Amino acid sequence: MPKPIHLIVACSENRVIGRNGGLPWSIPEDTRFFQEKTCGQTVIMGARCFAEWPSCVHTRDVVVLSHEPQALPPLVHGATSLAEAIAQAKSLRGDIYLCGGQRVYEEGLALGDLLHLTLVHAHIEGGDTFFPEWRGQFPREFSRRESHDANWRYTFLCLGRE
Ligand SMILES: NC(=O)c1ccc[n+]([C@@H]2O[C@H](COP(=O)([O-])OP(=O)(O)OC[C@H]3O[C@@H](n4cnc5c(N)ncnc54)[C@H](OP(=O)(O)O)[C@@H]3O)[C@@H](O)[C@H]2O)c1
Repeated sequence: MPKPIHLIVACSENRVIGRNGGLPWSIPEDTRFFQEKTCGQTVIMGARCFAEWPSCVHTRDVVVLSHEPQALPPLVHGATSLAEAIAQAKSLRGDIYLCGGQRVYEEGLALGDLLHLTLVHAHIEGGDTFFPEWRGQFPREFSRRESHDANWRYTFLCLGRE
């Protein structure tokens, strides 16, 4: 049976995912959710995401997209295209999780079976990285859980295709 491909992302109502090289928010519950979902799985991410989170290699297999994969540390698998990354991920552990950034999501949106979306109920100004328009592509809602902390309101959604 083919491995499922998951997309996992937190984005604002105006589809912002990043600002100035980091997340525009700090939401510990979402960080925990992300860590738990991807632990023991294979994650695919761009080189900037990996630079932000190099410790991910300890509890998951990691494929990093870069035009210079030879410059990556030995514990990660390097790939120069998303197709190559997915081909490698098929022989690594667990399911495949596409974790960003923008280009990985843009290229991966059509390939994902499931979308784990944390929708942050805010309009973020000054965002510089975005998630593509997903509404219409993932019309099926498998689960929904609303939550909040002192600063943010957000909804955990698990979405699928028709
Ligand atoms: N909210 C969320 O859930 C979430 C998730 C992930 C990231 N983010 C945010 O997004 C931002 C980082 O994302 P980003 O889009 O700027 O960077 P990124 O995708 O992590 O990294 C970009 C780099 O990855 C390589 N790359 C990406 N796609 C490639 C492809 N298809 N083929 C070959 N190489 C590819 C290139 O590296 P080389 O230059 O080495 O060739 C490119 O310069 C940060 O602000 C981060 O916090 C947010």
